[in-house]
Amino acid sequence: MKNPIDLNKVEKILANDPGGMLKALWNLPEQCEEALTIGRGVQVPPDYKAVSNIVITGLGGSAIGGDFLRLYVNDKLGIPVVVNRDYILPKFIDNKTLLFAVSYSGNTEETLSAYSQAREMGAKIIALTNGGKLRAMAEQDGAPVIVVPAGISPRAATGFLLIPTLAVLESLGLIADLTEEMNDLTATLRNLREQLDFSLPIQRNLAKQIAQRFFGKIPVIWAASGNTEVVATRWKGQINENAKAPAYWNVFPELNHNEIVGFEEPVELLEQLEIVILRDKDDHPRVQRRMDISQEIIKDVVSGVTEVWSSGEGRLSKLFSLAYIGDHVSVYLAAMYGIDPTPVKNIDFLKNKLAQG
Ligand code: F6R
Repeated sequence: MKNPIDLNKVEKILANDPGGMLKALWNLPEQCEEALTIGRGVQVPPDYKAVSNIVITGLGGSAIGGDFLRLYVNDKLGIPVVVNRDYILPKFIDNKTLLFAVSYSGNTEETLSAYSQAREMGAKIIALTNGGKLRAMAEQDGAPVIVVPAGISPRAATGFLLIPTLAVLESLGLIADLTEEMNDLTATLRNLREQLDFSLPIQRNLAKQIAQRFFGKIPVIWAASGNTEVVATRWKGQINENAKAPAYWNVFPELNHNEIVGFEEPVELLEQLEIVILRDKDDHPRVQRRMDISQEIIKDVVSGVTEVWSSGEGRLSKLFSLAYIGDHVSVYLAAMYGIDPTPVKNIDFLKNKLAQG
């Protein structure tokens, strides 16, 4: 195994981040504010309000905002919200569907395929993109296009790829005014970025501490179904894409009915698992109890278990605060492996090969 880079050596962290992933993380609160302004400026036809379901179609960093939206509106909207990560759309989509086609680059082939289908199915479409073919197609079709700034990786653009969709729901009157929620979100993130900043030593930086625990191990992220589950997928994806390392996730209570049994063999492999449990005061009380008992079951078998708690008051703050810690962990883990977090050469390779036919 590689020798880890010392996370107290600030210049080494920066040298491993030529693409500026840490800078993009630092800018997230401002990105969220800008995203709200962009979203509130979108002209949406009034008939877009008459919908019986909402679909967000996208992949990877452009789809995760859909999951945030789904969880955010879960207890606010009386209609189903579905996130689609495929070429093909579900058959229920029709002219009562509000469909967000989200692709930061605007060139992701699955999203373009889903967009074309949504057109044929008569959905009320809004494109959210920086440009590419998606923007061109939507403009040609006369569908509203939300254009967000370029220059960062899609996975660093979660504010841009989520908040305009919420702002659209706000302007359609489908959800309440977002001002208070957004103020709480940006204040929470501003506070958190000080605590997670690369300049802080390991003893005072939770993200660096977790990165150290993950180094050389297999991260496993557990969260609560219907609440923090989106953040578990986010942690996994960020570890994969930024640190170029494997990671796995699951949710309570489901994992208590299968995964929890699999902690007996092979002992040597189980010792390599480093578990993080994402916790939130809003988790169902029985789920919270399950999280406590599950730790008792596994704690002597695995490499370690760490609880990470959400912060902030509003729903967005709680989800984003947990995600933000994971984002930092993934970049510090990349630094420890001596890896540049920004390039995703396996994704690029796949996209290029597929583009050849
Ligand atoms: C790259 C990343 C990927 C992309 C995905 C879809 O930073 O996060 O998961 O988001 O390959 O590409 P876009 O977002 O351009 O539609």
